[in-house]
Amino acid sequence: MLARRFGWTGLTLPAIGQGTWKIEGSREKERQAIEALQAGIEMGATLIDTAEMYGNGRAEELVAEAIRGVRSKIFLVSKVLPWNASYEGTLKACARSLKRLHTDYLDLYLLHWESNHPIGETMRALEKLVRDGSIRFLGVSNFDVSRLKEAQAALTNERIACDQVLYHLGDRGIERTVLPYCRGEEIAVMAYSPFGSGQFPPSRSRGGRILGEIGARHKRSPRQVGLNFLLRRSEVFSIPKAGNTKHVHENASASDFELSQEEMERIDRVFPAPGRDTPLGMI
Ligand SMILES: NC(=O)c1ccc[n+]([C@@H]2O[C@H](COP(=O)([O-])OP(=O)(O)OC[C@H]3O[C@@H](n4cnc5c(N)ncnc54)[C@H](OP(=O)(O)O)[C@@H]3O)[C@@H](O)[C@H]2O)c1
Repeated sequence: MLARRFGWTGLTLPAIGQGTWKIEGSREKERQAIEALQAGIEMGATLIDTAEMYGNGRAEELVAEAIRGVRSKIFLVSKVLPWNASYEGTLKACARSLKRLHTDYLDLYLLHWESNHPIGETMRALEKLVRDGSIRFLGVSNFDVSRLKEAQAALTNERIACDQVLYHLGDRGIERTVLPYCRGEEIAVMAYSPFGSGQFPPSRSRGGRILGEIGARHKRSPRQVGLNFLLRRSEVFSIPKAGNTKHVHENASASDFELSQEEMERIDRVFPAPGRDTPLGMI
């Protein structure tokens, strides 16, 4: 598993983690999701992303089961919902997440997306959680550069460690401003929905055919090629969600081959980044 520096934090983390949105459901679906998370952990995908929003807390409960006995190996990320992100609300939401996750600390806690509560209140609460040892690092999600600057300016002692943003072959908007800014500030970028949240290019499409051809050369699947391409920049981490062990194996081994310059250019042409600044995409 490819590992890289997580922004300014000094930590080295796996470039490919695991998402947990929509892992809840029938007993069988949840059993498979837990099995998949555990298989991913065994393969080194120890960065796990969850949120109080996912399944109204059910995803966090399932993560707790998946990481039982191996908590210390995991870099655990959760998020506070914007409408809970007042000062008191953030502290309470974090306490609820910790309880569901059966742990006494989160490695990273993010504001899920922009909130109507003043950013200063949320940041003050996140700083308190760091001071109290409930979270190791704080960050945001779905923040463009101007929102990131506001969040940073609202902090007194801490620094933003991470911005979690939408990034897949069909939406490369972050490459315009978010990525360069985060690189300069040493803020880790966590790419969510790397497969377009179920909208991966079909094999019959032009883009799908090109991914297939490149994959065949490396004995890799089109998704592995796509994920590998997204990870070509050293500040990017990616958190695909897989509901079964077959998918998790495929995803977790997407970083152990190298695309040539020519292959990256082909992908770049068929899935181009926008030619001008665009509002940050969001799912
Ligand atoms: N901060 C935010 O606002 C935000 C927003 C969205 C997502 N996220 C985070 O990012 C994570 C990933 O994003 P996502 O869940 O939206 O979508 P995604 O990872 O882009 O795609 C997940 C979909 O791809 C399928 N899939 C995964 N691996 C596959 C494989 N190897 N072969 C075939 N199909 C495969 C999954 O099916 P199976 O389930 O059948 O494997 C699922 O339908 C989320 O789970 C969540 O943790 C954050």
